[in-house]
Amino acid sequence: MVCAVLSVGAAQMRGDDFPAYDLGTIPAWQDLPSLRGDHPDAQVMSKAEYHRKLQSLDVEHLYNAIATLMTTSKPYWPADGPQDGDVSSYAGLFARLAWHCSGSFRMINDTHAAGGCEGARQRHWPENEWRDNTNLDKARGLLAEVKLQFGDHISWSDLMTFAGTVAIKASGGPANKFCFGRVDDVNGERSIPLGVEGVSQCHGSKFCKSNFECPNSFRWPEQNNTDHARCKIEQPEQRLQASHSVGLIYVYPEGPELKTTSQDYKPYWVHNRSPRLSALEVRDTFKDRMGWTDRETVALIGGGHTLGRTHGNCNLTGSKWAEDPYNNIGPYFEAMPGSLRGPTDGTCGTGREAGRGNNTVSSGFEGPWTRSPSRWTYDFFDALLSEEWVPTKSPYGNDQWHTRDRSSKFSKTMRLTADVSLIADPAYLQIVEEYASDHAKFDSDFADAWFKLVHRSEDHPHQDDLEKDASFCTSFEFTVSQQTLLP
Ligand code: HEM
Ligand SMILES: *[C@@H]1O[C@H](CO)[C@@H](O)[C@H](O)[C@H]1NC(C)=O
Ligand SMILES: *[C@@H]1O[C@H](CO)[C@@H](O)[C@H](O)[C@H]1NC(C)=O
Ligand SMILES: *[C@@H]1O[C@H](CO)[C@@H](O)[C@H](O)[C@H]1NC(C)=O
Ligand SMILES: *[C@@H]1O[C@H](CO)[C@@H](O)[C@H](O)[C@H]1NC(C)=O
Repeated sequence: MVCAVLSVGAAQMRGDDFPAYDLGTIPAWQDLPSLRGDHPDAQVMSKAEYHRKLQSLDVEHLYNAIATLMTTSKPYWPADGPQDGDVSSYAGLFARLAWHCSGSFRMINDTHAAGGCEGARQRHWPENEWRDNTNLDKARGLLAEVKLQFGDHISWSDLMTFAGTVAIKASGGPANKFCFGRVDDVNGERSIPLGVEGVSQCHGSKFCKSNFECPNSFRWPEQNNTDHARCKIEQPEQRLQASHSVGLIYVYPEGPELKTTSQDYKPYWVHNRSPRLSALEVRDTFKDRMGWTDRETVALIGGGHTLGRTHGNCNLTGSKWAEDPYNNIGPYFEAMPGSLRGPTDGTCGTGREAGRGNNTVSSGFEGPWTRSPSRWTYDFFDALLSEEWVPTKSPYGNDQWHTRDRSSKFSKTMRLTADVSLIADPAYLQIVEEYASDHAKFDSDFADAWFKLVHRSEDHPHQDDLEKDASFCTSFEFTVSQQTLLP
């Protein structure tokens, strides 16, 4: 009975007319009983059966369905582009979906790993509640239309990783090969060691501890002690969580705030986030937790932030969201009514525009990295090196960076502290310089790193394990005659 009441609330929270939303995101109230063992009948296709169905997947047809969806703005979640003077495209949204689904990967030792996209647990609690995944429910809701079309011939984990790859390729970026065969999980249980933010309605379950803060934390010596502590890599019970807090599973974008006594502190700046310290956090996550080299790290961040934008065009001053208790909690994805985690929709703007398009808030940062976020370019590295980046704030109030020269051709672009860290760290800087001067090398390194990103998982820890297991790959031969899909 509790579930029936909640399901009405959940539907209202999501807004009116997202046709296939429920396919893409399983609300926590539905997952949790199965985590407690109350739904032993939950089914997912076996690996053997899925790999058999894959044999009749028409990859070109799937590619075209995703590429068409990518450039067809839907009224229930308008595509970005117009606000940047660009064409409408979900390329950034789909690429972020694939990255966040895959970026939970943690290398434990040479043969064992955790996380990764295989299992598609991003649809489930706890991943669908992580703050870093805000508004990716919308991306899955859009792709649900493709899922409906292809049914059992494509798993959610294959669909999400392939959609991100198509987003890059169909935007003019590099992609050489993609292998299918990922099997979906029944629920999100295997992601629990990666972190649970806590839901209010699962008393009595051993899984439902609120682990928002990490027990084993520290601050950098130069970090202001009112700034959020960082999580050491070693945590109790072999927890594999991220460096800032559970819900921010990747890297904390704002970076550490300096003490006023630090040598680099500038009293006239609107914030004193340190790109130099942020670089240490980027390396902590990418190298120590995920097993990436510095080159792969720079290629991935630069390539990822070539497409799409950040979303925080919303000043909540004077609204209820600026007041207690809402000021501490939202707006995040509302996985469960009453969890005080949202809704993400409707906090800014009015009517049809509320919380959408121009008024979207995901991370709270605002703006694109490049002049044309729907197309593959080299602005990310070019502008990092050619501009002087100075602290500013997004309309939402987050600390970010813009060009000192406000009439520069890059003046409408932004950088996160974690982006600027790539020129503050000498080893990263050298790679940024190489990529800025050798675009072909960047493209090739990015394509290799992206392949590794979307293919490694707990089930297939090495990048070629999936291919060995399922033997169903594409090299995108069919796109050669398809250049008209480019925007
Ligand atoms: C230091 C590491 C990283 C940090 C701190 C970071 C942070 C962020 C933030 C804050 C956003 C804005 C989300 C929003 O408001 O919509 C974003 C967007 C995005 N990120 Fe990253 N990111 C990192 C690495 C990566 C990597 C490795 C990739 C892919 C390989 C990637 C791909 C993207 C894409 C495509 C978007 C655009 C989303 C859209 O257009 O809706 N990011 N990232
Ligand atoms: C979004 O904002 C831009 C710039 O502020 C404006 O030109 C455009 O009309 C807005 N679009 C919508 C759909 O409101
Ligand atoms: C790797 O990690 C797994 C899981 O923690 C463990 O069972 C295994 O013994 C480890 N192997 C090596 C070689 O350390
Ligand atoms: C830390 O930040 C707070 C709030 O911005 C500020 O008042 C304080 O002076 C800072 N402390 C140090 C040691 O920098
Ligand atoms: C938000 O709006 C308030 C009041 O209109 C203003 O004082 C404040 O500077 C704005 N904040 C940002 C980050 O733009």
